[in-house]
Amino acid sequence: MKDASPRAIYLKDYQAPKYFIERTQLTFELFEDYTLVSSVLTMFRNEQQSGGELVLHGHELELLSVTLDGQALTAEQYVANAESLTIHELPDQFTLSIQTRIFPQKNTALEGLYKSSKMFCTQCEAEGFRRITYYLDRPDVMSVFETRIIADQQKYPVLLSNGNMTHSEKLPDGRHLTVWQDPHKKPCYLFALVAGDLQHIEDSFTTMSGTEVALRIYVEPQNIDKCEYAMDSLRRAMKWDEEVYGREYDLNIFNIVAVDDFNMGAMENKSLNIFNSSCVLANPKTATDAAYQRIEAIVAHEYFHNWSGNRVTCRDWFQLSLKEGFTVFRDACFSADMGSSTVKRIEDATMLRTVQFAEDAGPMAHAILPASFIEISNFYTVTIYEKGAEVVRMIHNLLGADLFRKGSDLYFSRHDGQAVTTNDFVVAMEDASGIDLRQFRNWYHQAGTPELTVSDEYDAQKQQYKITFTQSCPDTPESDNKEPFHIPLQIGLHLQDGSEAPLHCDNDVDFNAKTSVISLKKPQQSFVFSNVSTAVVPSLLRGLSAPVKLHYPYTREQLLFLMRHDTDGFNRWDAGQALATDIILELADCVLANKALTLDERLIGVFRETLKQSDLDKAMVVKMLTLPSIAFLMEQQSPAHVQALYAARHFVKKTLASELHCQFSDIYQENDITGAYKPNYDAMAQRSLKNLSLQYLLESDREQYLSLAVEQFEKANNMTDQSAALSAIVNSRHRDTAASVLQQFYQQWCHDPLVINQWFSIQAGSDYLQGVDACNELLSHEAFDMKNPNKVRSVIGVFAGQNLRHFHAVNGQGYSWLADRIIELDALNPQIASRLLGPLTKWKRLSVESGQLMKLALEKILAHGNLSKDVYEVVSKSLAN
Ligand code: BES
Ligand code: ZN
Repeated sequence: MKDASPRAIYLKDYQAPKYFIERTQLTFELFEDYTLVSSVLTMFRNEQQSGGELVLHGHELELLSVTLDGQALTAEQYVANAESLTIHELPDQFTLSIQTRIFPQKNTALEGLYKSSKMFCTQCEAEGFRRITYYLDRPDVMSVFETRIIADQQKYPVLLSNGNMTHSEKLPDGRHLTVWQDPHKKPCYLFALVAGDLQHIEDSFTTMSGTEVALRIYVEPQNIDKCEYAMDSLRRAMKWDEEVYGREYDLNIFNIVAVDDFNMGAMENKSLNIFNSSCVLANPKTATDAAYQRIEAIVAHEYFHNWSGNRVTCRDWFQLSLKEGFTVFRDACFSADMGSSTVKRIEDATMLRTVQFAEDAGPMAHAILPASFIEISNFYTVTIYEKGAEVVRMIHNLLGADLFRKGSDLYFSRHDGQAVTTNDFVVAMEDASGIDLRQFRNWYHQAGTPELTVSDEYDAQKQQYKITFTQSCPDTPESDNKEPFHIPLQIGLHLQDGSEAPLHCDNDVDFNAKTSVISLKKPQQSFVFSNVSTAVVPSLLRGLSAPVKLHYPYTREQLLFLMRHDTDGFNRWDAGQALATDIILELADCVLANKALTLDERLIGVFRETLKQSDLDKAMVVKMLTLPSIAFLMEQQSPAHVQALYAARHFVKKTLASELHCQFSDIYQENDITGAYKPNYDAMAQRSLKNLSLQYLLESDREQYLSLAVEQFEKANNMTDQSAALSAIVNSRHRDTAASVLQQFYQQWCHDPLVINQWFSIQAGSDYLQGVDACNELLSHEAFDMKNPNKVRSVIGVFAGQNLRHFHAVNGQGYSWLADRIIELDALNPQIASRLLGPLTKWKRLSVESGQLMKLALEKILAHGNLSKDVYEVVSKSLAN
């Protein structure tokens, strides 16, 4: 182990800091082989805590000097090691000066200060600041920062940090200095520094109270034509936060910088957001619609953190969901408002049910307020983010928009400038609304996805419909005794003619007729609806009103009925997914039993009908024509037989394609946009419908459609169409054409790393990939770089996370190959290595044979020793019973 016997830290052990830091003055002297950091900390004792020694965090720092109130400390006065600096005796108020030397050029973990291509940049969340200097690296220590940056003027003409630039000057030897002051107190995880030869675009935004804010996006010179969409998104996000949350920006400057090597998508450093270049750079020729949508969402997300995260921050990292869950909820609402709320909801629900439910059922399951962790970086999970956002959404739905806004106003004003807990958020919501959220808090403390089993009966005589809900929650590693959840369940009741029954349920306080929301609170609860004139098909959990698994024994006929009649768009789509899932699972059983496969005609009928509905939102049509993914299907089968699911799903897709190729061909023609590319909602929807049709057409095995795809590939004026054609061809049986378009694409785009990431992804995700040998070929390609997280994600991440058919090859080669890559990566970048472990943690869900092979791969990693905390935590928890 790199870090001798990693220990868990517990929420229950939280203690307020013994000292605070009022002012932090940093000086960075950047050189080509090292950087000198001096920090001057103005500190005082926390009266509330019994005093004692000061322990500052550090990580692999070379300490050059320490002085206390101007006096150099003697050897007896402190203890310094790689992980901490302890000072034994201190006055109530003092100034501490510390010099350290660090090596950004050797920093491949991409935490702290590092070099990405030719620029210096930082990433301090969660605990990266301690790799820069000794500090109280915890979010409840908030300080005002002043940053001086000194570097070679020619190589690094642009020097940025948080806040306003207050001074700049030329120095001898071709160096220069800039000074930045951030007037807002902040925890050190929001500190940022950038130095490089950068260009920028500039715009401005006038806030609702009339303050003008300069907006700049900094990039390397070759990317200057790819900043417009991010700028446009930023302006829309600023406006939206004013309109929907009354939140105004609080400085005169807001900067975004794009860097190529970045562990995550982007980071909300105060007034100096740093972005993975893949999440900010776009122009029509190089970026797909999906990239445009991601940019819009992530620019908004990081901007929204200025209030939900920065002005009001987290007390400790257990509270991470306080800022991330809330901010994901905010960015989801923003995206919904920019496009279609139903489509956005479908996307989020799909991801939640596929990825988050799986996490919540596996060895890494944790509550959105976890009780303990070994390495905080492992807790930037779909649970913290997506389930966290679902919990905020439920509060929003329980309170209604107006009271929710009252609650968020109270939360922001009450806690402005503070580091708080998720409980403070809930209390603000309760105080503003008068609504009791006591039982609701179980969502914060308990892991696992609640299951809701539903039964019903109709009494024709009494014209009464009775519906009964039973809730339970499976055991998870931290608890096998769950309290019932407060589950808001939105419902509708369909009469036999398809119309909706008016909802009379007069005798129950847990039903709100105005919102059609049932509040489930007990392990079992029944509701009786009166004046119901016919038997009923219930529409349950509309819009996925709670993150639960619902079990109602719908027949295929009832699902078809809901697809036609449900007034809730989400549930119409969901009924279609449930039908397709049921059909594929049944076919998978046939595959396992070696029986012949025939497709239920009704699914073909549904697809035919959907293809005819010209009045529907095209993005909705795409969702309805998309079969549930293998990953989703794996969650519905126990044990999961990946190869059988693949075969069944593939059979369904092929059958639909050949039955309906004429219709798909018409849709393709109708939606072929001529003219300039526009990244607006309708145009994107149209392109995605066209490209989905192209996929089905190539699946149909009719020769004539290959030339259509090749033509689209060659003539496309935008990356969405070009890469969709490439992908369709690469996933078709036309191997020679596939090889030649791949070659052509590489020649065309080898100068653009973001486009080459797509080229890697399409191959790593291909159906025709020849196993791990083909992956190894990609890894040894000249354009691949193991130190660049985007490259790693587009080959290793895509293969293990998305190419399930080949990753789960029955000989287990995929698993052991991934284990080797993780060991290799862990020495370079523990966060990325640990994230790639995800697919290996699910071994208990697989058939015995596959599960054992996967377990061997995990054991191989553990046996390697010398692991980072990050990888150790995930592997050891996955192997524990
Ligand atoms: N604060 C995070 C970024 C972060 C997380 C940096 C963990 C370092 C460690 C940021 O606000 C974030 O959540 N980014 C997401 C994208 C977002 C749209 C959900 C990301 O980077 O994936
Ligand atoms: Zn975030």
